Amino acid sequence: MAVLVLGPSNAGKSTFISSQPDGEKAVFGSQISSKSDVPETGYIHYNLLHHSVAIAVAGGDIREWDLLSEQILNDIIASGCVKNAIVIVAPIAELLSRARKREHFEISTGQISGYDQGLWSKIISSVDFFALYERTFEMLDQHGIAFEVLYSSSELGTDSPSFLPSDRTLVHHNLRGAFISTPLVDDVARVNEMPGIDYQKLTLPRGVTSVNRTYGHVSEGRVKTFNILRDRTLAGRSVLDIGCATGDFLLRYERYGASALMGIELNHMRWSAAVAVAKLLHSRAEIRLENFLTAPISQKYDDVLILNVLHHVPDFKTFLAKAVEATGDRLIIEYPTLADNLFQRLMPVEGDFEQLPVVGVSSYKVDQTFVFTEAALSRLVGDLGDFTYTAHVSPIAGRKLLIFSRTHT
Ligand SMILES: C[S@@+](CC[C@H](N)C(=O)[O-])C[C@H]1O[C@@H](n2cnc3c(N)ncnc32)[C@H](O)[C@@H]1O
Repeated sequence: MAVLVLGPSNAGKSTFISSQPDGEKAVFGSQISSKSDVPETGYIHYNLLHHSVAIAVAGGDIREWDLLSEQILNDIIASGCVKNAIVIVAPIAELLSRARKREHFEISTGQISGYDQGLWSKIISSVDFFALYERTFEMLDQHGIAFEVLYSSSELGTDSPSFLPSDRTLVHHNLRGAFISTPLVDDVARVNEMPGIDYQKLTLPRGVTSVNRTYGHVSEGRVKTFNILRDRTLAGRSVLDIGCATGDFLLRYERYGASALMGIELNHMRWSAAVAVAKLLHSRAEIRLENFLTAPISQKYDDVLILNVLHHVPDFKTFLAKAVEATGDRLIIEYPTLADNLFQRLMPVEGDFEQLPVVGVSSYKVDQTFVFTEAALSRLVGDLGDFTYTAHVSPIAGRKLLIFSRTHT
């Protein structure tokens, strides 16, 4: 089987491949024009920024793209010749400085071509590398391709890039130029066994995903909800996650480059687990054990998340008012509607009440205080500030997700 070596230009792919046995026989992405060109053995060198060149030249947005819409990568993956990959990550600042000094492309199609420093510097400055790597890992996972991550930096010793083993959970540190040793297997296992590790399925180092032991309605994990929020670059954004549980959303935001992260969690066991995971990952997230209603919040956050929390809160109006106060840009609420299974079991409701501002009184007996219609929540939030909103079907049955955006005048 061939090994796919992925990374943006200037990350050090060629240096890595040339240090491997038979590395000189590597095939470049640019030499592949159909699936049949994909070699069955050896190394394949693929520049993750390859097709962004065309988009950059056309002046398009290169932050969001489907990696497999690029034909060469699509052919490589579809060929079935690759079962292993090496993903190389270098600090963004080093990618830029290497691009500014570089004069030639590698020999690929048999000729050396000149390197357009200005174009590549522009591309490197505008790419959302945090999202690029996350999406690369997702793509590899989806196609059953096992991968290792290598941190590449000229700061590690010699002038040319040297490599150290990294981990997908630490790539955001690497992009900022920090190398963090991957936690030991036993340390990951110890955190993963904490009793508060439940509800969310966390991406932990060394390929471990935490287990959701108790909550069937979120057994698939929370990635689908996250992907609804991730409709823009999250790099540099600030986020407040109210009722953050074990911190899954904070950690996802952080991997996507968010800079200021605050979580508030009432439950001691979940909070302890969240803090332990954050420590394991050298996270910047601050996670506080507090009731949000009484927690001191001294700043505004770009994104404020209230995901599957509001229906547990008796004083939901005060809770919402405080959350709106903390919202700089988006307030994101995931909540049970009248169609929620637990609510329906208590009181079967037929008909569509979504356009009526109704709050359904549920019961502590089913661990639920209220359910809401879209019209109810949009009116409640609309009375507290100037917002537009979009409504989304939540991946959790009977729930919805509303994304309120402040109208900035
Ligand atoms: C159903 S879980 C949802 C977790 C996470 N937001 C998600 O959607 O994946 C609700 C969490 O909110 C927390 N919570 C409930 N009321 C809270 C409050 N007043 N302040 C802080 N956390 C609260 C609970 O302890 C629980 O961990």
